[in-house]
Amino acid sequence: MNALARHRYHRAAPVVLVLLLLGLIAGIAAAVSTASSAEATTATADDVTEGQKLFAANCASCHGLDAQGTDGVAPSLVGVGAAAVDFQVGTGRMPMQASGPQAIAKRPQFSAEEISQLAAYVASLGAGPAVPTAEQVDPELGDAANGMELFRTNCAMCHGSVGGGGALTQGKYAPNLWETTPTHIYEAMLVGPQSMPVFNDANIDPEGKRDIIAFLKAQDEGSPGGLRLGAIGPVAEGMWGWLVALGLIIASTVWIGARSS
Ligand code: HEC
Ligand code: HEC
Repeated sequence: MNALARHRYHRAAPVVLVLLLLGLIAGIAAAVSTASSAEATTATADDVTEGQKLFAANCASCHGLDAQGTDGVAPSLVGVGAAAVDFQVGTGRMPMQASGPQAIAKRPQFSAEEISQLAAYVASLGAGPAVPTAEQVDPELGDAANGMELFRTNCAMCHGSVGGGGALTQGKYAPNLWETTPTHIYEAMLVGPQSMPVFNDANIDPEGKRDIIAFLKAQDEGSPGGLRLGAIGPVAEGMWGWLVALGLIIASTVWIGARSS
């Protein structure tokens, strides 16, 4: 112990201490995250019962006690599947708070465990798409180049050529997709939220969906050209060219003229 105590005032002591603490924090974080993801994937009968309670308290006012839907208020959830619930509640769209042209994405109100319980309950009411596995949505396994082609043909008319989002008719809009998690991207294609069409496995097969995720995640990393300029394409770039480059030419012309007079 004495040998250790002697090194207290060593120059490297604070650095060593900080490194040890960081290692400890990283270890705890890793242990906690593996623990929670392991329990999120298994749906048991308990989950269904818990989910039913959560549903009665938070969703039944609009969707009805048995999720059968209420005319003119909210649709039936029988057969929408776990994927729809995981998407709608996980992106904070549900429970819906204000009525409007489209449910607004907010901070999610439920924990990952509660969301999987709600999803288990709704899935127990009728068969529907399940939440995709981690492997199905892993961008590392996808082909971003093929994903780009699929995205340009199927999604770009609403979400913009690189997923920046865009306005639709009647106050609706296709959101920006850069921050959306891979799982939520996959689920959106499976369930087609609101005015978005459903892309079932016959339209875009599971590998194609993963390729699209890889393409969108590549956009997340920023633009290879530097500033993204809103990602609206040549319009923004042209505007910068005209304003900045042409502005410089005019300014220098004025300056040269002013010097000679
Ligand atoms: C204030 C009313 C309201 C509440 C509360 C509410 N919803 Fe909804 N929900 C709606 C409406 C309206 C829609 C359809 C419109 C839309 O998607 O924008 C909808 C759509 C959905 C969908 C999509 C259905 C489909 O066909 O894909 C799911 C899933 C869903 N809700 C789940 C839930 C869950 C789970 C809760 C509770 C945590 C909840 N909702 C609470 C009004 C509500
Ligand atoms: C007809 C227009 C349209 C097309 C085509 C379309 N979407 Fe969408 N998309 C929407 C709308 C509208 C929403 C918002 C729905 C809502 O909020 O309920 C949306 C939402 C999403 C979301 C959720 C984003 C978030 O952050 O919550 C994802 C992910 C998504 N779309 C991906 C895709 C992909 C991938 C394709 C192509 C395979 C596609 N969309 C094609 C209109 C479209």
